[in-house]
Amino acid sequence: MTRHWLHGATLLLFTIPPVAWAWWDNGHMLTAEIARQQLTKSQVAVINGLLEEWSDDFPGLCDLVTAAVWPDQLKCANHGAVCPRAVMENIHIFDPWHFDEKPYNPQNLTLPHCADQWLPNPSASFTLTSAITSMGTSNSRFAFNFMLRWVIHLVGDIHQPLHSADGYFDDARLGHLPQGDRGGNLIPVISDCGANNLHFYWDSAACQYLVNWSPHYQDHREALTQNASDLITKYPPSSFGTRYDPEHLKACWTQLQNKSKPSGVFDICQQVFVRWVNDTFDTGVPGVPGRTTK
Ligand SMILES: *[C@@H]1O[C@H](CO)[C@@H](O)[C@H](O)[C@H]1NC(C)=O
Ligand SMILES: *[C@@H]1O[C@H](CO)[C@@H](O)[C@H](O)[C@H]1NC(C)=O
Ligand SMILES: *[C@@H]1O[C@H](CO)[C@@H](O)[C@H](O)[C@H]1NC(C)=O
Ligand SMILES: *[C@@H]1O[C@H](CO)[C@@H](O)[C@H](O)[C@H]1NC(C)=O
Repeated sequence: MTRHWLHGATLLLFTIPPVAWAWWDNGHMLTAEIARQQLTKSQVAVINGLLEEWSDDFPGLCDLVTAAVWPDQLKCANHGAVCPRAVMENIHIFDPWHFDEKPYNPQNLTLPHCADQWLPNPSASFTLTSAITSMGTSNSRFAFNFMLRWVIHLVGDIHQPLHSADGYFDDARLGHLPQGDRGGNLIPVISDCGANNLHFYWDSAACQYLVNWSPHYQDHREALTQNASDLITKYPPSSFGTRYDPEHLKACWTQLQNKSKPSGVFDICQQVFVRWVNDTFDTGVPGVPGRTTK
């Protein structure tokens, strides 16, 4: 099976403009729905055809929109609103793939050893780089299916500011957190929607997007479609100005296709995703409610 059938669609998927939003399942599906609306019908059909190949194992998680929550379903250990499946995967080896821990240190605290080396393997930006590398070099439908699910999910995650930042604080307001706040997970908050820490509060976009994936999510499909088109209208690609340049990803892709296998391709591609993480950090972090800003 040639891999070229997916390439146009993959590149287009990466043209989702960065939005400083945050996600439970609702947010993830909204991000994917925004991508879906910018692809052609035939591109969506190719992607859905691939994702459907796993429908025996992951029913209801096998189209462009619902596959966005698949990486979170892998973490499920107990039944609940976010974990409705009969079978719990309870797989945690991928947990560090969901974020980059870029330090936010407004008080200039002495950071723990290596805190400034925030681009390790594993991280979200590393996984996105691995994904594009696989898609640019592999013929395996398994690799495409697996990696595409991660791409759809992580493009959402890295635009949640607290998936792209780790705060260090030592004050009465935010707490004694010299080892970092684990992306806001260690900062308690009280909210109307039950989000009890700053990370969850942002995952719900401040209690705005609360629908969790379930086999009945079709009930919310119309609202999701409408919300996605409203966001595209409100924030058209042009509104991002120089913050997003599709040429960067194209340059990575061109080198992945280069038969002479130039060295440094991984770095070229990784810079693309680190730029997106930096953009979220620069745009989102100063505005996170509860954070000290200068
Ligand atoms: C932290 O350091 C930066 C750069 O040196 C400085 O601009 C800022 O005022 C310092 N902040 C505090 C709280 O000391
Ligand atoms: C659509 O957006 C509205 C307003 O933000 C929100 O209340 C609703 O839950 C959203 N629904 C979905 C499915 O995104
Ligand atoms: C492919 O890689 C080779 C070796 O690094 C380089 O000389 C050449 O310019 C590359 N081709 C393209 C189209 O970038
Ligand atoms: C990301 O931001 C860091 C500083 O926080 C900077 O050193 C690095 O060059 C940036 N990377 C890219 C690709 O923009």
